[in-house]
Amino acid sequence: MSALRPALCIAPSILSADFARLAEEVGTVEAGGAEMLHVDVMDGRFVPNLTLGPPVVACLRRATALPLDCHLMVDDPDALLEDFARAGATWLSVHIEACRHLHRTVQRIRALGMRPGVALNPHTPVQSLEPILADLDFVLVMSVNPGFGGQSFLPGVLAKVRWLDLWRREHRAALALEIDGGIGPATIGAARAAGVDWFVAGSAVFGAPDRAAAIAALRTAASTGDVAT
Ligand code: DX5
Ligand code: ZN
Repeated sequence: MSALRPALCIAPSILSADFARLAEEVGTVEAGGAEMLHVDVMDGRFVPNLTLGPPVVACLRRATALPLDCHLMVDDPDALLEDFARAGATWLSVHIEACRHLHRTVQRIRALGMRPGVALNPHTPVQSLEPILADLDFVLVMSVNPGFGGQSFLPGVLAKVRWLDLWRREHRAALALEIDGGIGPATIGAARAAGVDWFVAGSAVFGAPDRAAAIAALRTAASTGDVAT
């Protein structure tokens, strides 16, 4: 494994948590060994679902020590960047499909003190990101069409992960590769083998009664995809 490769992270998505008991739910995955918390922000326009915004992120910031990985599935992310910075977002991803001036948006995310990433829908070619990959801390490859938890993994997107993994090796870049959608014990090994570092898991973690066991099972299944490099 390259020394530059970011550490494996399991990032439970609170989309599948019980929102009426959010702090308690987050506590179970923090105690269960998760490395970060994935926060799905949906505006009912970019995706056909509505979730939460900066006030909830500010509450989460007080409720957990985990880094907050905020995934903005919104039409106009630029209008929200300052609010997310103030709320305490650690990592912030915007969708390439929603940004007209992506380079400017990425620079603003960093200037506001957050770590920038770009998310790609399943149909979006990864090569369109090449001119700004060096400006990013991570790329989020969607392995379902965004909007809902509990959908089936789309294995075709792993070709994009392989391309990104090759790019970062060639450029000796510490870019982290994240995957989101349909990740569970049956799919995580293939994603790991393709080069993924960070694994978002909603239903596979919050749908399980024992969150520590669910996170451990993901980690074990991911290791089947580890290959010596
Ligand atoms: C989907 C969201 C995901 C979702 C994943 O639009 O971006 O983060 O929570 O859920 P699972 O892991 O159940 O596919
Ligand atoms: Zn997400």
